[in-house]
Amino acid sequence: MKLIERAGLAALHRLDPETAHGLSIRALRAGLVPLAGPVTSPRLATTLAGLSLPNPIGLAAGFDKNATAVAALMRAGFGFIELGAATPRPQPGNPRPRLFRLTEDRAAINRFGFNNEGADAIAARMATRPKGIPVGLNLGANKDSSDRAADFATVLAVAGPHADFATVNVSSPNTERLRDLQGKAALAALLQGVLAVRATLPRPIPIFLKIAPDLTPPELEDLAEVALAARIDGVIATNTTLSRDGLKSAHKSQSGGLSGAPLFEKSTRILAQLSQLTAGQVPLIGVGGIGTADQAYEKIRAGASAVQLYTALVYGGLSLAADIARGLDALLARDGFTSVQEAVGTGRGTWT
Ligand code: FNR
Repeated sequence: MKLIERAGLAALHRLDPETAHGLSIRALRAGLVPLAGPVTSPRLATTLAGLSLPNPIGLAAGFDKNATAVAALMRAGFGFIELGAATPRPQPGNPRPRLFRLTEDRAAINRFGFNNEGADAIAARMATRPKGIPVGLNLGANKDSSDRAADFATVLAVAGPHADFATVNVSSPNTERLRDLQGKAALAALLQGVLAVRATLPRPIPIFLKIAPDLTPPELEDLAEVALAARIDGVIATNTTLSRDGLKSAHKSQSGGLSGAPLFEKSTRILAQLSQLTAGQVPLIGVGGIGTADQAYEKIRAGASAVQLYTALVYGGLSLAADIARGLDALLARDGFTSVQEAVGTGRGTWT
């Protein structure tokens, strides 16, 4: 991390976390944040569900919910970025405070509840982005919707023409009963609706499914079965956890989803189990607690074709994206891999 970034982060950490995040988005838009530019190499360049990625390090959903800093984030060193979550209609989300830093644990707890400006506004911003890395959208449901399953398809219909991929997010813990949609029958019906809309898009983009880290082994088995039967294009493992194991920080008892370092093991175990269950039939994207190149590599070796991160950026700054990508390149070279793809799943046994 450069001195200027360190100073910027120190200043932001004196503010309430949501205010600090809003300021960092504004600084990005204003061109005040140094950006790494594209990071790639023959080893790092890879494909994910047909998408060409310059490197497999992605920005996870929730960082730029309203697609207001897309152009800058596209030049921050990531290989792909995910915006949103977007719901059909704008909604305010839960009352503040709803984002907490757990500094001693290198973690965060959030209970935003899908605050966003709605699919129309977000799609309009996505439509004007420059060319570059793949940009996807996280699909969500309105809290007061009478048909939540249909909401995912609605957002896809509106924003799909401007997205390179879309993610069905039935795993946020902050919208009451949303996770019920991860059940076998409900999920199969929901995915069918989303895939029917995908078939009407001018360009048939890949559809990913994002899952919770708190699933039991039978629930995970069901989920793998549904994802394979629906021929979903990828599974993102995982969202935030409801677990609070081993935390030290003052805010550890806040309600919401926990992300960051304490999520690494749990989410990697789910990823590896899913890799075993799906046996390479569907690409997996590993998310949860990545803060170093070693951890990105570990997720890939546990079965991920690509990874995403968010919370570590709060502590390490945006320059972490490029540092992790370059570090991953060195780790692949050290172990004699000529591509990311070659390393996928080679360490799965450690986690299952
Ligand atoms: C998130 N995450 C998230 N995920 C999602 O699918 N849709 C969303 O809208 C959000 N919103 C969101 C807000 C905040 C403040 C955080 C910290 C996280 C979850 C995120 O994409 C990721 O799955 C987890 O945070 C785990 O990764 P990290 O943060 O440990 O790298």
